[in-house]
Amino acid sequence: MRQIVIAGNWKLNCTQSEAERLVGELLGRLEIADGVAVVICPPFTALSAVGESLAGTGVALGSQDVFWKDKGAYTGQISAPMLRELGCKYAIVGHSERRGRFGVPEPDFDDPILAYFGEKDEVVNRKLRAALAGGLTPICCVGETLAERHSDDTDVVVSGQVMAALTDVTRGEAANVIFAYEPVWAIGTGEVCAPDEADRVCGVVRNTVDRLYGAATAEAVRVQYGGSVNAANAAELLAKPNIDGALVGGASLKPGDFANIVKAANR
Ligand code: PGA
Repeated sequence: MRQIVIAGNWKLNCTQSEAERLVGELLGRLEIADGVAVVICPPFTALSAVGESLAGTGVALGSQDVFWKDKGAYTGQISAPMLRELGCKYAIVGHSERRGRFGVPEPDFDDPILAYFGEKDEVVNRKLRAALAGGLTPICCVGETLAERHSDDTDVVVSGQVMAALTDVTRGEAANVIFAYEPVWAIGTGEVCAPDEADRVCGVVRNTVDRLYGAATAEAVRVQYGGSVNAANAAELLAKPNIDGALVGGASLKPGDFANIVKAANR
């Protein structure tokens, strides 16, 4: 049976001292069953402190991004070896917020910021391969916008993102990739994808891996659902056969809620 992975994506929240407090509160509540992996992805500036708090707890540390070069003249970037040395085991790549695919209908920002965030499939692929090469398990986010869903393009968009992300990835490496199906319209909106539909699209991800690498790899690959997961809806989502965990944003900042999501994974 595939291991369930519950990952908390803290996004742009928590200074280092706030992160230390939050992780302390969380650890006081977490009960983790066998067969469940829990990952915390704080901002880069809090990785070191949160990593120290997590040492020996069984909860893993992850980053929210990774650059594809190990070192060089790339101002502001963070590489896989840097993350590994801080104790990271996972790295999120291709989050829709980094792809510039914001879910909110009227984003509260000036237009140019979209270009800054506009990561294309090729960038996501480079980051995914850099994570694998650097010993980090990539959590690769894929998902359609509301407009793509309305035009019945969900499956094409999602399988296209999966294929692009896996360009030049070997079969052995692919088995270690975690995908997170995150419909853009469900992220941070409180609008969760219906569990049967989330399960169906996670199946589309798995079928795409099957077409590329065969059944054994597709069976091994873990596919999370993400988008407004909370303590109330987690159990139903996680009971679905194609959903192997959750990537949790907002609710991961609430220790009681995140602990209950982890509890719901103890299936
Ligand atoms: P959300 O975010 O749980 O706040 O919807 C999920 C994500 O963006 O990974």
